[in-house]
Order: sequence, then C-alpha cells, then structure tokens
Amino acid sequence: MPSSSGPAIENLYSEQRTFPPPADFAERATIGDPAVYDEAEQDVEAWWASHAGALRWTKPWDTICQWDPPFARWFDGGQLNVSDNCVDRHIDDGHGSQVAYYWEGEPGDTREITYHQLRDEVCRFANALKDLGVAKGDRVNIYLPMIPELPVAMLACARIGAIHSVVFAGFSSQSLVDRIEDADAHVLITADGAYRKGNVVPLKESADRAMSSTDKVTTCVVVRRTGDDVEMTEGRDHFYDDVVDGQSAECPPEPMDAEDVLYILYTSGTTGKPKGIVHTTGGYLTQVAATHRLVFDLKPDTDVYWCAADIGWVTGHSYIVYGPLANRATSIMYEGAPDHPGKDRFWEIVDRYKATILYTAPTAIRAFMKWGAELPAKHDLSSLRLLGTVGEPINPEAWMWYHEHIGGGTAPVVDTWWQTETGAIMITPLPGVTASKPGSAMTAFPGIRAVVVDEQGEAVAPGGGGYLTLQRPWPAMLRTIWGDEERYRDTYWSRFGPDIYFAGDGAKLDDDGHVWLLGRVDDVMNISGHRISTTEVESALVDHPKVAEAAVTGRADEMTGQAIAAFVTLRSGEDPSDELAAQLREHVAERIGKIARPANVLFTEDLPKTRSGKIMRRLLKDIAEGRELGDVTTLANADIVDEIKTRSDSAKAEEQ
Ligand code: PRX
Repeated sequence: MPSSSGPAIENLYSEQRTFPPPADFAERATIGDPAVYDEAEQDVEAWWASHAGALRWTKPWDTICQWDPPFARWFDGGQLNVSDNCVDRHIDDGHGSQVAYYWEGEPGDTREITYHQLRDEVCRFANALKDLGVAKGDRVNIYLPMIPELPVAMLACARIGAIHSVVFAGFSSQSLVDRIEDADAHVLITADGAYRKGNVVPLKESADRAMSSTDKVTTCVVVRRTGDDVEMTEGRDHFYDDVVDGQSAECPPEPMDAEDVLYILYTSGTTGKPKGIVHTTGGYLTQVAATHRLVFDLKPDTDVYWCAADIGWVTGHSYIVYGPLANRATSIMYEGAPDHPGKDRFWEIVDRYKATILYTAPTAIRAFMKWGAELPAKHDLSSLRLLGTVGEPINPEAWMWYHEHIGGGTAPVVDTWWQTETGAIMITPLPGVTASKPGSAMTAFPGIRAVVVDEQGEAVAPGGGGYLTLQRPWPAMLRTIWGDEERYRDTYWSRFGPDIYFAGDGAKLDDDGHVWLLGRVDDVMNISGHRISTTEVESALVDHPKVAEAAVTGRADEMTGQAIAAFVTLRSGEDPSDELAAQLREHVAERIGKIARPANVLFTEDLPKTRSGKIMRRLLKDIAEGRELGDVTTLANADIVDEIKTRSDSAKAEEQ
C-alpha cells in the first residue's frame, strides 16, 4: 500500500524467491526466448501489426498507429468484424465442431457449445436484434448472469455493429439506470433470474425497477434462466426464445472500421459518476488475442482454459469472451459461486473438465486458503499447467499457496496487471521465459512501455517507488470516456502531460527493475479486485434520509484486499444505533450492489476536514486500520479525530 503520509513510496519489502519456468514448460512454450522483448522494442509497430495480421481483415489497414496525444488510432482504414474473427473464422478453418464453451450452471446443469453452434446462435440473435430495430452504432445494454446467452448477446451486437454495454448482474437497478442513461441505450437484454449461492436473484424485477425510473428503454429481451414467472410489459418485453425462434442462422457480419466502437464498459473513478470506458474494434481484438495467446501460452488444440471471472467485468470481456474466442480456445464458463454447494466447487470443475489453465483473482485465492488445502487435495488437479491472477496485488503468501496447492508446485503463475482502461494485459511474466517472484507482476508485455515515475514525472531507478505510467500508445487502450472527452484528458493524461498515461496505481521497482504494484493512489478502493469509488458509496449513504454527511475509506482486509469502512454523521434529531448501521449498509447494497456494502459503519458528530473543507480520508484510513496518527493540528476540527479514534478502537475491541 502507498505510505499514508504522502506519495513517497518506500521500498520496504524484498523478495528473494524466484520461480523459473520448469524446463519442459519452457521447451514447449510458444515463447521460450526472451529475445521477443528486444524484437518488439526494435519495431513496436511491426510487432503489433504481426499480431493484427493473424486476424481476418476484410480490408487491410492504411496505417498501424496514429498518435495524436492523447488520442490514438490503430489500424486505421482497415475493416474487420469481431464476431467473424471469434467464430466464423474457426469454422472456415475446419474447427466448427470444437467446443467453445463447457458451460456449467450453479445448480449443476451443463451445456456444451461448439463453435458451429455458437455461430448459429449468434446469427439468430443478431437477426432478432435487427428485427427489433437495432442498427449499427446503437447502444444495447446487457444485464445478464453468467449464462451462454451473455457471450452470444455480445457477439450478436458485434456482428451487426451495435455497441454493447454490459452491466454486472450483481449491480443494483439504480446502477443499471445510470448506465442506461449515460449510454442512451434503448434496448435492454436481461434474464428472469440468476442463480447465486443456491438462491434465485430476481434479475427481471431489478430490470423492471430500472425501466420504471428511465424512459430510455423501449425494448427488453428476457432470457429464461430460472423459469420463474416474471412480469412482462406488453409491447416492450419479449422472451429471448420467442424473438430467436424461426430466425435464420445466417447473418452476414457487418464490416466494421478498426476504430468503430465495440463496447462501453463502466468503471469507477474518483468522482461520483461511473466512467464509460470506450473500446474499439481492431486494436482491442489484436491485443486481447495476442496477450491471451502468449501470456496463457494457449494451445487451442489441447488446452482447456478457465477464466473464473464474471463477464460483467473487463476480465470477462477480454479473457472469457474476446481473447479466448479469437484464439479458438476451449473454455470453461461457470455460472455461480465458488462455495456452492461445497467449498470445493472450483476443484470439482477443474477435475471434471481437466482444465489446463486457470485465471482467477487474489481475493478468491485468499478465500481458498482460508477454506483449507485439504479441499483442493481431494481432487485431481494435475491437468493444470498454468495459473494466472488479476485484479489486485497478490500477497506473496497467497501466490505461494496457489502455486503449491493448486499448481502442484510446478505450474507457472502469471500475475497480470491491467485495467478496464487498458483493455488487455500490460504487465506480466511470460510463462515460458520469466523467472517469477511471488507478488510481482514482473515486466511490461513486449511492446508496452511501463514506467514508474516520481512526483515530477521522472523515471525512478531500480529500488525506487512512485506512480505507474504508460508512455506509449497500445492497441487495446481506451479511446475516450463515453460522451466526456474532457474527463478522459483530465483523468488519464493531465498528471504528467498529454502523452503519458497515469494509471492511478502506486508501484515500485525492485533492485532488478521488476514491477511491484502497490494499490491505488487515488480515492478508489479495491474490493475483491473490483474498483469502487469512495464518492459513489458516500453518495449512496448521503442519499439515506437520516444521513447528513458520510466519508468512506478502504481499509486493509485479509480476505477482500480492502473492506469499506464508513464514517457517518446523522441529521440532527437522529440517533445512532446498530439497527440504523445495518440499514445503511443495506441501503448502499441496494443503491450500488452488494460489492459496495460497507463492512462497518461508525457514527460520528463530525468528519475530520482540512481548512478548505476537504474530508481527510487518509486520516480515516489510518483510524480504520488502527495506525498511530501524525500531526492533525492543521485540521479545521482536530478535536473530532480523537473522538473518532476512540470510538473506532472500542468498536474493534468489541468485534474481537
Ligand atoms: O489497482 C489496479 C488493480 O486493479 C485496477 C484495475 O481495476 P479494473 O479496471 O476493475 O480491472 C481489474 C481487472 C483488470 C488497477 O488499477 N489491479 C489489477 N490487476 C492487478 C492490480 N493490482 C496489482 N496487481 C495486479 N495484477
């Protein structure tokens, strides 16, 4: 974590253990020679063009990269279609009967979908969308659980040139409204319900609440997942089966310009409103395919690949849908929770499908550690040959546990750093080349220039710490924030100049120059690998009629990386109570989603503020994490700090 007293980041931790790739792995790896780094450096454009060239273009590009900071255009003039590349291309190459997805529902039902079946389904739904009036460039909102219709819907949009905006099914109806309105989406695709931990989540009800607070949506398509009765509004709502029934399984892919928008995906920023991150077609597909193939050393004929994320997050977009399908992978897709019905569900799945590659998040790994090594030990995990992690820094101990108990002490672990904005993996080991250190994402992917800089923007030397920046455009980079170019410039390209991307993460270089990520340096929390902004949670709290003011901070948590600690001042006349604290936690869960529910709420008469009125979140973080506080005398209301600290300490003592 960045030091709490300021941006100077000290290099405290040093890791001596290294894990070179096992000889037989390196021998068979697609990349087993570090020369690839130099090769990419010598001619970066040629490097990316060689990966773009592996895709099917209906019109060749004129230029590889045009960089007019902070705006990049990749493969301009070229045309291709993402769904054609992800599906049809493989069928044309004679692989139509290969399984694209082994899908497993939480209740235990299964489906196996070949590339051929996937194409038919995508075409039928694409034709249905056209009949419903969806045209090229229209935004389609997708609010679906982890069922095959989710990738089908995304690919159907891509096929006809519609822009999808997927909203994680765990988000609340209010979050859905915000995203529908921001993207101006007139079509919503959802399901009757979703299975989660053995319960049914009534998704359509949530969609209905959203549609009653916005008049944007004129068409809603409902996939039957649970079969429960749902209310259907005449003229607006249609069942998926009904619109797809009788549609032709032929739908010619729309030729798309390389720079046409493929999707928008919303992510938290430092201010309240989520940012619609815009990804385009040619460069995005090029980099997700290249990184998926090389970082996971994918062998399409023999591997069974499993990314255990949710497609509602960028990890799922890039590494469950677009990257794997572009590479003709056979993937596992699992609908539900890792602990349902038993805490060994993942290991059952690995064993059943003989998964060879597993990609998951540190928060999940820590949960597995807590549940005990005897659970994976009950299953045959010997098929696994490569492991990946993403979403937050992985503690060296969790890395070691993953390596040993899941990877049998041999499978390389790739710790991959990237963001919704980067679209694809940026900093990572290459499994056949890199001698990894537990806890370090190691080096930039070939062709990427990642630089750790100090406050002035100067590159730090090995052993130093500072801010992570990216100093060269990359094909999968975000192109803008939907409808807000100003915010795009301000957020990413103003801190160190218009051609240096500011990632918002602290990082240090060890003595060998390897990168260690240290977490966010802005007011963005990372809960179980998901970014949640303090402002969003605070706004949700203040939205409660009894709350006057609120501040939240992410405090270190063993399981979830960070947990949300909330400090709340009530309106006069309102009394603090445990019931109210519980109500407020639920209120946030309803407004944003369960992922944003504060772990605890502390009531206080006032919040520590600077003289200019800014809430001192850093101080609250120190309190929440039980640290000694430094000098607070410059605050406008220093007295309150002692009081909050006393209350916080006694609340903690009670918990124990
Ligand atoms: O803080 C970094 C952390 O997750 C942030 C990006 O979050 P999001 O856009 O939701 O995308 C998550 C999945 C790509 C980053 O700014 N992060 C992601 N991967 C790592 C990480 N922190 C440390 N190590 C990682 N491997």
